Amino acid sequence: MKVSVLGYGTVGKGVCDMIERTPGLELGPVLVLHSERSESFMITDIDEILKDSTVGAVVEAIGGESPAGSFAERTLKAGKHFVTSNKAMVADRGIELSALARSTGKAFLFSAACGGGIPFLHNLSVARKSDDILSMSGILNGTTNYVLDMMQSKGVPLDTALSQARRLGYAEADPSADISGLDSYRKIILACAVAYGIQPEGYKDIEGIAGFTQQDAEVISRRGAEVRLIASGGLNGDGSVYAFVEPRVFFDGMERAVRKNFNSVSYTGRNSGLITYSGQGAGRYPTASAVLRDLTGIEEGTLYMLPAECVRRPAVNDMEERYLVRCEASQKDRFITEEVWSEEGGTAVFVTGPMEVSRMHSLAAELRNSGQGIFFASLGD
Ligand SMILES: NC(=O)c1ccc[n+]([C@@H]2O[C@H](COP(=O)([O-])OP(=O)(O)OC[C@H]3O[C@@H](n4cnc5c(N)ncnc54)[C@H](OP(=O)(O)O)[C@@H]3O)[C@@H](O)[C@H]2O)c1
Repeated sequence: MKVSVLGYGTVGKGVCDMIERTPGLELGPVLVLHSERSESFMITDIDEILKDSTVGAVVEAIGGESPAGSFAERTLKAGKHFVTSNKAMVADRGIELSALARSTGKAFLFSAACGGGIPFLHNLSVARKSDDILSMSGILNGTTNYVLDMMQSKGVPLDTALSQARRLGYAEADPSADISGLDSYRKIILACAVAYGIQPEGYKDIEGIAGFTQQDAEVISRRGAEVRLIASGGLNGDGSVYAFVEPRVFFDGMERAVRKNFNSVSYTGRNSGLITYSGQGAGRYPTASAVLRDLTGIEEGTLYMLPAECVRRPAVNDMEERYLVRCEASQKDRFITEEVWSEEGGTAVFVTGPMEVSRMHSLAAELRNSGQGIFFASLGD
């Protein structure tokens, strides 16, 4: 199969290299911007790819919602398979594009959009057919994991750790979606869409690591624990889905052992029990390897990851968690406090009683809107 690639950046170049090394695949024209055109196989007008009847599949590695979304639509309408690593675009338009792909009999696959090189979405899309996926959770953003690891194991401030992540090529040029938790959230809602045919809508209950300070790291470390950023998604008893992202305190457990920019994500199947995948969640060749898995899967007849009837529904995050909270001492009474870890200099660090996930996130937003700082992390069992 001849495959064209849109975008020749980190992922795009990796995909091109791997296509050239993979028997059965042939590299077609590669779409780049005018300013980047340096090789004869590069073109700057997508119509050349869409009109080329010898191109069977297109890989999109540009990123962002636009023009990637319209390129996807035009590719499928031109009767070609479409594979992407672009979680923002799939979170935005994946359901409609998957339906379009089914109507044209062509593939719409996005393994690399969640977990980079880890074969999580792919295996989830297989597992859901033979098992009930009860819940999913894990570390889905390598940049934030690297930053948290450096802050807690080396005492490095957040900004310095982020600059290091940039230098090492882990962080995107604009890492705001990583730090805010949005990137992890997009990935977990795609996992929900694959597992349940329900994509949580509304983008709520997303807490990243911007509020985590070295002082927080020290307080938590004195108790023998560490923080990781965890994305959670799953099925509620009433058939609705939940999805949220928040820091979590680990006294032990496998997430705590995940270092540097690694990812680790699990699902629990009714029959399989807990299954965990860990590895490189980003990077040129790990991500390209997931794209290549999709391309070779097309040859074997795997065309879709989303169930045929996939819909959007609001997430219902009404399960209860206990939280570790650091905020101004004067605001402590807004919470039911189970245990105070420290209270000095007008700042309190305490453990709450069980409270709804959505309630915790909205209380934190209220405090921030009134100009106050807060850090919170769920505590688990
Ligand atoms: N990097 C990773 O490890 C990783 C992992 C998993 C998923 N992803 C996803 O993969 C996608 C690509 O990421 P990346 O890291 O490879 O980004 P990247 O390095 O910035 O590459 C994107 C390339 O596309 C080019 N481009 C922009 N608009 C274009 C257009 N209209 N036509 C053709 N080329 C265009 C960009 O050029 P300019 O730079 O000049 O704008 C850039 O060279 C994103 O959706 C990202 O979320 C990345």
